[in-house]
Amino acid sequence: MTLDFTRRSALHILGAGASLGAGIGASIGAFAKSSTANTALSDFESFAQSSRKNPWTLGWRSVPASDMSTAKLRVVSGKIPTGLSGTFYRNGPALFERDGLRLHHWFDGDGMVHAYHINADGVSHTGRMVRTDKYVREEKAGRFLASAFGTKIDNPAPVSGPDDFNAANTSILPIGGELLALWEGGSAYRLDDMTLETLGAKTWGKGLKGMPFSAHPKVDTDGTVWNFGQDVFHNRLLVYKIHANGELAGVHLLKNVAPGMIHDFCITKKHLIFVVPSFQAVQQSDTFLGKFKWLPQEGQRVIVVEKDNLDARREYELPPGFQFHYGNAWEDNVGDIRFSVCAGDDSFITKGATAVMRGEKFEPTPTYLAHVVLYKNGKARVEKVSKERAAHEFPQFNSNVMGENARYLYTVGDSFEDAPGQSSILKHDFVSGKITGHNYGQATVVEEHLFLARPGSSREDEGWLIGTTLNLETQRTQLNIIDAAHIEDGPVCILELPYALPLGFHGAWKGTA
Ligand SMILES: [Fe+2]
Repeated sequence: MTLDFTRRSALHILGAGASLGAGIGASIGAFAKSSTANTALSDFESFAQSSRKNPWTLGWRSVPASDMSTAKLRVVSGKIPTGLSGTFYRNGPALFERDGLRLHHWFDGDGMVHAYHINADGVSHTGRMVRTDKYVREEKAGRFLASAFGTKIDNPAPVSGPDDFNAANTSILPIGGELLALWEGGSAYRLDDMTLETLGAKTWGKGLKGMPFSAHPKVDTDGTVWNFGQDVFHNRLLVYKIHANGELAGVHLLKNVAPGMIHDFCITKKHLIFVVPSFQAVQQSDTFLGKFKWLPQEGQRVIVVEKDNLDARREYELPPGFQFHYGNAWEDNVGDIRFSVCAGDDSFITKGATAVMRGEKFEPTPTYLAHVVLYKNGKARVEKVSKERAAHEFPQFNSNVMGENARYLYTVGDSFEDAPGQSSILKHDFVSGKITGHNYGQATVVEEHLFLARPGSSREDEGWLIGTTLNLETQRTQLNIIDAAHIEDGPVCILELPYALPLGFHGAWKGTA
């Protein structure tokens, strides 16, 4: 198949796509129907006990209401920079308990999308639970009806496909006048970009209903959006190319992709890069997560395909590893490809993200920042950039240099000693090798910060970092704006909500910056 998007290739792809969805639905359905004793109640009790003595558990409590809003956030310090106007969206798991049952894994919570509308007069906040079909059914029933990524529910409702489990809790994508709440096992959900009202599951085209659409789409500098959906049980990836106006340009099926869990990918000017990690679906389990096994002897496979011809594929071997997120990628003039990665192993996804749900601290293997080099001759190499100030996560960069040799990367880092999470936002300068940053302090958990280029900017770090933090002393969520060129000076503006929100995952920006 090629990416010519002819009628013939489209029919072929769509035919394959139909079975893609059915495959995932059948796989999840199989474990949803199985029945063994669960330990949910003990998680509920364990978390309740921990909450009474550990302030950090605030980040993993359910939101108090399905809709929340604040007309004007309190300004804690500074002022909103001139020229910064738009909406900062975020998404994350926000509902963890129903009918005395607490979900086992952080990734299982139903998603709440947040909109911070920002202009010179101030900032407002709206947060709304995404009304997925799952959420609506479970609200009505008053209990969880569908098993999730890492939780098996007893006596589940009948299932017909992946969207019966869709938590819509991972990221957000403004595109073509729509706002999409992203998961990765099924459909994106359409939202009104002002009110956050849920408008229904997104279907990209005929035959694509319910197809997996991952939570890390890449927006090219011309506005083209690339994304993928993985069918891990049939060794396939569906690649999406979407015009800047939100219309589907085409889809393409990549076959013979080993069953490693792929959460993110990266793009250069000419290529798409998928890393198949050493955490693979090779065993039976009654949860989706449980089917995956850490295979420390199993190297990672890197699949590189050309944007203009997705049949043109080459592969590389890397040392064993598992990671959630990648930084930027680029190719030099001899054809070697480089990309950055927050590298690690499976310890957070299998142990850390379940421990926090019980209110227990688990020390996962710290991630480290690395550069991967894929040589044109087929060899590959991993260069550790830094093990300092671990653990690095949520890498972000100036989207104007997407696919180019970017100088700067921003991550969260500096783990707490006695609680889960990190306290710093860091700036990596790949030219000087320096790491600078701002530490929010030992009572503040830092979340992903986006880089927003200043309109008309010429320097790569000319812009703002915008992100939320959870202040455990005030028990409030704060919104921070940092001048990226002077990150060590800390926020130029801090605003505060009158409530705490659970920690989330990813965000997006729509506005003038
Ligand atoms: Fe992610």
